[in-house]
Formats: sequence, structure tokens, C-alpha cells
Amino acid sequence: TYSATTVFSPTSEIDIAEAAAALRDGHLLAFPTETVYGLGANALTPSAVSAIFRAKGRPSDNPLIVHVSSLSDLTRWPLTPLPLSPAAARLAKAFWPGPLTLVLPLAARSPLAAAVTAGLRSVALRVPKHPVAAALLAKAAVPVAAPSANRSGRPSPTSAAHVIRDLDGAVFGVVDAGDLALDDANCGVESTVVDMTDPHNPSVLRPGAVSVRELERVSGVPFREVERGQAVERPKAPGMKYRHYAPVAPMTIVERTRVKERLEEERRKGKLVGVLANDAVCEQLREVSGVVTVNCGREGDVASFARELYGALRAFDGEGKGRMEKVAIILAVPPPDTGDGIGAAVMNRLVKASAGSVESIPESLKSSH
Ligand code: TXA
Ligand code: MG
Repeated sequence: TYSATTVFSPTSEIDIAEAAAALRDGHLLAFPTETVYGLGANALTPSAVSAIFRAKGRPSDNPLIVHVSSLSDLTRWPLTPLPLSPAAARLAKAFWPGPLTLVLPLAARSPLAAAVTAGLRSVALRVPKHPVAAALLAKAAVPVAAPSANRSGRPSPTSAAHVIRDLDGAVFGVVDAGDLALDDANCGVESTVVDMTDPHNPSVLRPGAVSVRELERVSGVPFREVERGQAVERPKAPGMKYRHYAPVAPMTIVERTRVKERLEEERRKGKLVGVLANDAVCEQLREVSGVVTVNCGREGDVASFARELYGALRAFDGEGKGRMEKVAIILAVPPPDTGDGIGAAVMNRLVKASAGSVESIPESLKSSH
């Protein structure tokens, strides 16, 4: 542990150089990506990697994503056998840098610390697009293992303040690029994770901004969706079996047509109710008393809902601007236009954060295939 976490400026070359050197030398460093803030460690250094698990309180059977600065880094370190399968190569070419993680076979002579892959024979690889992540990875010049920079079970961080809130003193430094929700170039939810270990039978392990339709179009191969909204019995991404993204108060997913009625019901039980919903729904509830609304995104713009989701969940725990009363229950109203891609990712995170408490869910998500 450190006496305090150093805050680095993304616009100072000196700061980026210092942060990159610390990362290379085995210190934990949190940094922004276009999805969420990551908690980085030199993936070649066993003590640095085990520090990630300690800082997060993360179960050791949950492997980490390895971040590199470009596809050509795969020729520099033997992380996965080359050449990539044609399908994996097409995905890497099309979506890197970007919010796509490829799970690939682990190279026989991989230099990665064993804890990175949690003893599996596969490795998850990603090339982030956020300019600060790109600059840092280029300067560090080592593969960087990085999960989201939250304590296990908490909503992922989309600002440096979220990182400090969860990990102050447990991490050497954080590169502070501010609130990711403020820039349309960011996603706000974690990368799409796809299992390409068998390139003829690939699957989506975690939905994200890169949609199944795009994956199939680019790779030319049909994808199985391991997870779509609902929980699965045997998760293939080890991380998917744990409760995730959760605020302190219990949360339940409610359709917008039912939110007023459900609100009254809870209030009659004497509960202070929280509502997480987009601007249009929050506006409809403006006159209703005994309810604390947290605005998440704009009507007709599901990407803005995704960008603001984790910040909104954290607001119910008293993070962010202004003081907020502690609510006894949160009613989450999903955006109406959830489809493939970012919409499916939003629904998946809401279901996880509510521990599967879904009172009404869009028809499109009821049947998984
Ligand atoms: O957007 C993101 O992916 C962010 C940023 C920081 O890059 N990172 C992130 O990492 O979300 P994390 O650790 O919170 O989630 C990684 C997911 C977990 O569900 C984990 O189980 C899965 O990827 N995973 C990692 N390695 C795997 C492997 N070899 N096989 C299957 N799943 C794997
Ligand atoms: Mg995470």
C-alpha cells in the first residue's frame, strides 16, 4: 500500500513518462480507456499482477485482460501462437484499437505471470483506443494486465474520482482524464469479450459496444451468445459468475409504463425510493414526492445511457456532486431502444447490478439463443 495515490495529468508528457515508468517497474497504475478506467500492472511481473488481485479483492480464478499498444506487439512477445486464425485476424484488424477483447490460445512459452490467465490455457487481449491509454502503453512498452479499477463487485469506474473512492492508497497512481461520460468517443461499459480459442465456434462471453452483428459480418463466422441479459448456469468467462456493478441498495428492473405504480407501492411500505432512468422518464417523475431520481442518459440515445450508467449507480451510494439521501430500493428503467451492441451491453449490466431482479424486461431479451 501507498500513503496516498499520486494523480498524474494526461496532458503532461513528464507525467505520462513517470506513470509509464512506474507501471513498467511493477507499481499499480490506474488509467482511462474508452470503456472504463483500468487498474494496470506489468503483466510480466508476478508480484505486480498479484497486487491487482489484492487491491481489488478479486478472486484468483478470475483472469485478467492483457492490454498491448498494437496488433504488432503480438510479434514482439509470444502471447498467443501466430499467425492468428483468419477470423481472429479479421476482428483484430477491424476493431483494434477499440472496445473488443479477444480470448485466444495462450502461447506455450508465454512470458506472462501465471496469475494473469488464472491457470487457463487461453489469454484475453485488447488494444485500447483512448489516446491516454495508447500513449501510456506505448511508453511503458510492456504488456499491461488491467481489470476495471473498482473494488470487486462495485460499479466499474468511469472517472478518476471513482478509482480514488475505491482504491485510494492501494494503487500507486491514477492518470486523471476526468469523467469518461463527457466524451462521445467513450463507451462507458466494458469491452465486448469474445472467445476465439476455437475460431470455427466463437462465442460472445460479455456483450459490449461491438455488436454480435458486426462480429459476424467482419469475421464471416456465426457467434454464440453465452450471455444475454439473463444469468447463465455455467459462465465461460470466469468473471461473469460473480455479482457485479452493484450499488449498495437493492435494485430491480422495471419497465417505464409500470414505474409510477411500483413507486407508489414501495412508498406505501414507507420506503424512500430511488429511480435510475433517462431524462424523459425522470422528467415525468418530477412532481412525485418521496422519490430520488438519478438521470442516466438522454431519451433516444442508448449510448449516452451506457456512458452515464456506472456514474449513476455510484450516485446512489453518495458519490458525485451534491448530497443524496440513502434510498431503500432502486427502480431501474432501461432505455426503450435496447438492441444489439451497446443496448444489449446496458441491459446485461443492469441485470447484473440488480442481481437478476427483473420485474419486466423488453421482449427482445426474453429469449436467449
Ligand atoms: O473494457 C474492458 O475490458 C476493461 C478495460 C480496463 O480494458 N477491462 C475489464 O476487465 O473489464 P475485467 O477484469 O473487469 O473483465 C475481464 C473479463 C472477466 O469477465 C474475465 O473473466 C474475462 O474477461 N476473461 C479474462 N481472461 C479470460 C480468459 N482467458 N478466458 C475467458 N474469459 C476471460
Ligand atoms: Mg470488472
